Amino acid sequence: MEQIKILDDLYLFRTMNQDINLTFNQYLLLGSRPVLIHTGNVQQAEELVMKIKAILGKAELSYIYFSHFEADECGGLGIIHSQFPQAKPVCSQVSARQLRGFGFNYDFVVKAPGEWLETPEYKLDFISYPAEMHLWEGLLAFEAQRKIFFSSDLLLRMGVASATPVEADWHQEIRDITPQQVASPEARHTLQQTLAALPVKYVATGHGPFLTV
Ligand SMILES: [Fe+2]
Ligand SMILES: [Fe+2]
Repeated sequence: MEQIKILDDLYLFRTMNQDINLTFNQYLLLGSRPVLIHTGNVQQAEELVMKIKAILGKAELSYIYFSHFEADECGGLGIIHSQFPQAKPVCSQVSARQLRGFGFNYDFVVKAPGEWLETPEYKLDFISYPAEMHLWEGLLAFEAQRKIFFSSDLLLRMGVASATPVEADWHQEIRDITPQQVASPEARHTLQQTLAALPVKYVATGHGPFLTV
């Protein structure tokens, strides 16, 4: 697992899966209430725990935010939570319901699109992510202080990812969102309009390089 300091207070953790030619990214945003963005799967989470502990030292992890219910986004939640039991999972209502159905009875912070999570050092604005089976609603997040869009599976790149940020065109990225990513034409259009209105400076992809736009 690679560890890259992207900004003074933002770490990226990355694992390449050669079999599917895809990297898997998780992020740690520091501050008085550190937040982990995605847990990785179980194997990734075990490595992640050691890295987070080394970075945080005596500080506690406050939140574990994940965009939707899938192995690479929240499969490692049990492992991360067992090591940071005070950390509250932050997710959509559907994700919390799914996880409770699998026996994860944590103190979830359930957020809806249009709501936010604000601390002194960051503000995560949540956006609807209608991308899962049954068009289940997940949550994308825009960090308003640094203008970082956490794109999850929405804006991604296959293949080996560069260790340094890659330049991209924000509006082209939005236009490139495919029906495979958001199947409903109406939901895709609404999402594209919502994203186009955001003053995004960075895209923290779930898979691929970190983008500057
Ligand atoms: Fe996913
Ligand atoms: Fe993913």
